[in-house]
Amino acid sequence: MASRQSGIRLAKRLDEVGFSDIVKVRDKVVELRAEGHKVHGMHGGEPYFETPGDIKYAAIQALVENQTHYPPSTGMPPLRKALVEKLAAKNSIRVTPAEVLATVGSSQGLYAAFQSVLNPGDDALIFSPYWTPIRDLVTGAQARPLQVATISARRNGIRKTLENFSTPQTRAIYYNTPQNPGGVVFTRAEAEEVAAFAIERDLIVIADEAYEDLVYEGTHFSIASLPGMAERTITCFTFSKTYAMTGWRAGYAVAKEPFMTALRKIVLYTTNGVATPVQYAMLQALTMPETKIARIREEYRRRRDLLVAGLNEVGLECEPPAGAFYAFPNAEKIHKVSRTAAQILLDKAHIATVPGSVFGGQGEGHLRFGYAVTIKEIEDCVDALRAFFK
Ligand SMILES: Cc1ncc(COP(=O)(O)O)c(C=O)c1O
Repeated sequence: MASRQSGIRLAKRLDEVGFSDIVKVRDKVVELRAEGHKVHGMHGGEPYFETPGDIKYAAIQALVENQTHYPPSTGMPPLRKALVEKLAAKNSIRVTPAEVLATVGSSQGLYAAFQSVLNPGDDALIFSPYWTPIRDLVTGAQARPLQVATISARRNGIRKTLENFSTPQTRAIYYNTPQNPGGVVFTRAEAEEVAAFAIERDLIVIADEAYEDLVYEGTHFSIASLPGMAERTITCFTFSKTYAMTGWRAGYAVAKEPFMTALRKIVLYTTNGVATPVQYAMLQALTMPETKIARIREEYRRRRDLLVAGLNEVGLECEPPAGAFYAFPNAEKIHKVSRTAAQILLDKAHIATVPGSVFGGQGEGHLRFGYAVTIKEIEDCVDALRAFFK
């Protein structure tokens, strides 16, 4: 007799969607700390400083003034106007307020972007190593992620490499600069190659510029600013990293039609917008002067240099990352398999890192160390590494 499938089952679209391995590391650290161990937490991506006071007070003031009602689900008009000005001044992306959408972190923008663009059976090119959730966002749309090794693409030519990996089902390219975890900052010339390929193949680019302000070598360049790209690019930004606002869940997406209508529908039916007081905080954050952002960037550069020097000193070879706030050294000296290397480092040195393999095949053999922590935490971590390798 044919067995009947139980009604208590999940929708198929979740079959290939994983649950972030980074969250698993975070849980393990909480467990170790609860047992009384001192853990060097290098696994995270949380800025080392608190959300600036003026941003917090903007939200408090909004609450006191009863700005607690439904927001326009696309974002309140003054916020979208301020975003339009920021995009023109900083990213050379010229859009109207109707082409900007407030999102619950850039995570919601990215989710909406992949859902809006990919059909089941489509392929999406993603530079690898990549930020872990991207694979799940692609598979959650029942599409297939095609991993393009960033290192070989830069060595052998971006356009040629994209051509090699592309299939007739390819519909989109995920383009993250500065990159998490590798710290790669794509140049303008490289963006032009990606753009030329996207235009030739009629592909959509989903650009992730979460770390736009954290570039130490080179300059940040937005691919949507290139001729012919605004109409085929969905760019996702966040307030999480620049302004230390990870917990506020504040971001925005930029796109033209038909994508903007699709993104708006997804925001409408998932969260119905960004919390009203958070939108006031976002508006305030946008007034932060560039000089202050530059000072924060220099703080990160100090951390980067300290950590990278320490890693190289103990023989974990590491190029200084050009952007973002992660070091991604080769960890084969600890163990060839990055999951085992991370486990050993956690057990023996109480240093929490993220195994490179969770960022895709090209991450194997590496560990990710986040340096968005205090200088003291980096010094302690380097001391623990020295003791471990003694
Ligand atoms: C590359 C990249 N994109 C997007 C995000 C999402 O950030 P949020 O949802 O906080 O805006 C992160 C967070 O770590 C990231 O590393």
